[in-house]
Amino acid sequence: MTRLTEPAYAKINLSLDVLSRRPDGYHELRMVMQSVSLHDTVTLTLGGTDRLTLSTNLGFLPVDGKNIAIAAANAFARHTGADLSRLAIHIDKRIPVCAGTAGGSSDGAAVLRGLNRLYETGLTPEMLAKIGEAVGSDVPYCVLGGTALAEGRGERLTALTALEPCYLVLCKPPFPISTPELYQAIDAIRLHCRPDTAGLLRALEGRDLHGVARRMFNVFEQALPPKRRAVVEEIKNELIQHGALGACMSGSGPTVFGLFSRQEAAEEAAGALRESYSDTFLCTPV
Ligand code: C5P
Repeated sequence: MTRLTEPAYAKINLSLDVLSRRPDGYHELRMVMQSVSLHDTVTLTLGGTDRLTLSTNLGFLPVDGKNIAIAAANAFARHTGADLSRLAIHIDKRIPVCAGTAGGSSDGAAVLRGLNRLYETGLTPEMLAKIGEAVGSDVPYCVLGGTALAEGRGERLTALTALEPCYLVLCKPPFPISTPELYQAIDAIRLHCRPDTAGLLRALEGRDLHGVARRMFNVFEQALPPKRRAVVEEIKNELIQHGALGACMSGSGPTVFGLFSRQEAAEEAAGALRESYSDTFLCTPV
């Protein structure tokens, strides 16, 4: 029996812009992505089973092809011809589900990286990212991680100067947001504000943490139903009051994050928010 583990890091969007709706129903995006230390752990075991299986520590998650981890494993097998019939996948989840932090995509990406090691297929990260395109829009980025510009459907990636060391407090309010519905909502409104992506890229390049924090912006916040938006605003305000240099919603939400230069301030903010929101995490960029 051979066993290995892969960390599956959550991501946040330092910025997210929706540029246009494409004929294939997807949207042209421009996003600055950052992976963070909050992670699931994916364990792959070869042998000890006579069929491909998936288990997780959360009873309500699908364990069939609807789970992105199985979809990723099948995509890997299609590309490499690997025999998955003796493979057991286990995911220990800590990243909240349906939170705008790419928990599922990150698990799929970790499966691709792990299978490449387990089956010794020698694929480059770029090749794994390409396989991930068919699995989900955020999977290619999650294969590579770090600080990156994602364009197109999310699959056109440019590595950026790493975000300066800092502390990130992630807080997920307890309501789900449907990603396809939020895309529909954004198609129906005129956007008043857009992120200054060029300025954000310059701030990253210049290692200017305050400049990055000032430019964090997500157009999806404008498309939220008013009650949801009020909760997101409230969390952002609390983060700022506790000393965050900036605060923003991640992806299609509802997770909100604050960026801090001082650890004590981040710890205090996380402690205060945790009293109302149990899914609150103190992280660092990875
Ligand atoms: O690719 P993925 O399955 O993660 O996308 C989930 C949904 O998000 C899609 O069905 C689509 O409604 C929306 N989406 C989009 N444009 C993108 C990425 C996702 O419209 N670039």
